Amino acid sequence: MQAMRMVFLGPPGVGKGTYAKAVSREFGVPHISTGDIFREEIARGSELGRRVKEYVEKGLLVPDEVVIEVVKRRLAQPDCAKGFILDGFPRTLSQAEALDTFAPPNLALSFIAPDEVIIERISGRRICAWCGAIYHVKYMPPKYPGICDKCGGPLIQRRDDRPEVVKKRLEVYRERFTPILGYYRDKGILREVDASEQAPIVIPRVLKVIREYYGIE
Ligand code: AP5
Repeated sequence: MQAMRMVFLGPPGVGKGTYAKAVSREFGVPHISTGDIFREEIARGSELGRRVKEYVEKGLLVPDEVVIEVVKRRLAQPDCAKGFILDGFPRTLSQAEALDTFAPPNLALSFIAPDEVIIERISGRRICAWCGAIYHVKYMPPKYPGICDKCGGPLIQRRDDRPEVVKKRLEVYRERFTPILGYYRDKGILREVDASEQAPIVIPRVLKVIREYYGIE
């Protein structure tokens, strides 16, 4: 079987991180989220964190050269030899072209859901400040309000989930996304997944598409 080199595409809040975590658990390939990397670096106050903070908190794209370098370094780690799930990258055509020069993906999954669904998901999202686990106050609540089931950490709202920033993130997404879809469609590796229903329905659907695509029994 070929290595699973996947990119997960779709608007903010469609559920890419949620599905990527499930796919990573199922097939044992690392989940790499550029957004998570940036949030961790911002929280640590590292040099990279200081460089990207303003972009992330305003919902703007971090410059291509910064993101591409981060992804290139991460994909060179040994755990990516058997494959990877890239979540949140590529976001521009230049990023997609750059990725092809060092780790060409062989499957691009595009997740689709209506705007009102996406906005409801983002407004109810909470993440664990310690381990990054993703919850939703209505759809995926923790056992005890405000506390992570996995590590006991505090659940917080992302700074870029404020309504005015969400609006900007959706605008940026719409401007940039169509060419990326066309790019992967032309290569014949694009598959679309309807992500408008609840996660217990969408996750098995994603796993099925991946199993069929790679010919896994
Ligand atoms: P990033 O972290 O990548 O944000 P995003 O793409 O906007 O995606 P999200 O994390 O908001 O959503 P998601 O689709 O993963 O949804 P989730 O699973 O959490 O990027 C943040 C920022 O970093 C960018 O704005 C930019 O500044 C910078 N950046 C990152 N990558 C970059 C790049 N390549 N180039 C330049 N800049 C970059 O789910 C959402 C909520 O819905 C959760 O609460 C979840 O519990 C719930 N949920 C999920 N699925 C379902 C379902 N099926 N039913 C009900 N609820 C669901």
